Amino acid sequence: MKVVKVGLLGLGTVGGGTVNVLAKNGADISRRCGCEIIVSSASARDITRPRICETDGIQLTTTPEDIINDPDIQIIVELMGGEEPAKSLILKALSNGKHVVTANKALIANHGNELFAVAEKHNVTLAYEAAIAGGIPIVKAMREGLSANSIEWLAGIINGTGNFILTEMRDKGSAFADVLKEAQELGYAEADPEYDVEGIDAAHKLCILASLAFGMPLDFKSVYTEGISTITPLDVTYAEELGYRIKHLGVARKTDKGVEMRVHPTLIPEKRLIANVDGVMNAVVVKGNAVGSTLYYGPGAGAEATASAVIADIVDICRQLDAPSDSAVPALGFATDQLKALPIVPIEEIITAYYLRLSVEDKPGVMAAITTILGNNGISIEAVQQKEPEQHGASAQVILLTNSVVEKSMLIALAQIETLDSVNQPAIRIRVESLQ
Ligand code: HSE
Repeated sequence: MKVVKVGLLGLGTVGGGTVNVLAKNGADISRRCGCEIIVSSASARDITRPRICETDGIQLTTTPEDIINDPDIQIIVELMGGEEPAKSLILKALSNGKHVVTANKALIANHGNELFAVAEKHNVTLAYEAAIAGGIPIVKAMREGLSANSIEWLAGIINGTGNFILTEMRDKGSAFADVLKEAQELGYAEADPEYDVEGIDAAHKLCILASLAFGMPLDFKSVYTEGISTITPLDVTYAEELGYRIKHLGVARKTDKGVEMRVHPTLIPEKRLIANVDGVMNAVVVKGNAVGSTLYYGPGAGAEATASAVIADIVDICRQLDAPSDSAVPALGFATDQLKALPIVPIEEIITAYYLRLSVEDKPGVMAAITTILGNNGISIEAVQQKEPEQHGASAQVILLTNSVVEKSMLIALAQIETLDSVNQPAIRIRVESLQ
């Protein structure tokens, strides 16, 4: 059987997981792709550090250039993360005629257009399944399985750490910082956990999904991003009382005005399957105009789960090694000369329903004043609840669910509501998606 040599740049959680899965399942993987995959070299900053995998038989080096310049290695797997030196190394590897597999979502979202062009120029593949939603084969599904469809929208829980935090807050009432620490210990969190908590990691992934869905070049700067650090257990509880779950959702939607790309906390009806995706699990709903709604679910982070996606890309490349270069699936699922930039809808122009929580004085006329302002701005109310103050003199909580409204009207209404003497604090405002 033909041997294909792979070099790993990075031997951390996912690199170690890749070596372990190849060791565990090598025989079946070889039967699938018709060649034996051998990790011959791996680079790491500190090669003396203990690893989660066996390193016997792997040439370890602190110099990644040794790997990308090794003529015996056909496939480079970049698992270092971060922009540099990963970008320069990938560019050099592609120019050297090597295929590259990466899990680096920041790199693809920010520099994918350039990297894919270089790969195409050198007739090699730059594969990135592991960059989005860990082990879920969502790139494969969107590029190939859904190619008959015009995609209307997609919505995903695409950051395992954030979902793990929200789930633990809800189930155990755990403090934010404790859960984050646990996620870091389990190897789920990014090197800078702000990327998880503030939605940047999810925005990288959403940007790539939107390009796969709508056939447009990657445009990370146009993704609107809000994190979960402002979500309180109180809102989690009130949302549940209304029949909703709060999830950190990435949404990409094609509308008459253009494409929406946004990541923010979102109330989802609890009866939707995706509302019940908990812990480190990820899920993406993709609505195609032929197939309808489809749901992809699985672990969004972790050593072997992410390695599963890395190895699937390696297998795809092995199957193509002797094929004509133009037979490969295009990087973003659309022929490169057919990618088209589309107008992006600014966040003020998007239309969603809202959950509002207002801290108000418990006195007559307050509710009427609030609902009058909402009505004057064309906002109709779907549900209202009032929670009595916990102690004498404290604020009462008014919780409202509205119908869909353009965001700028909601902002105007809230600015007017916040000028009322009886409203004590800025409103809590969370968008609601029905996902139908
Ligand atoms: N930090 C990421 C997450 C890792 O929690 O989803 C997988 O991309």
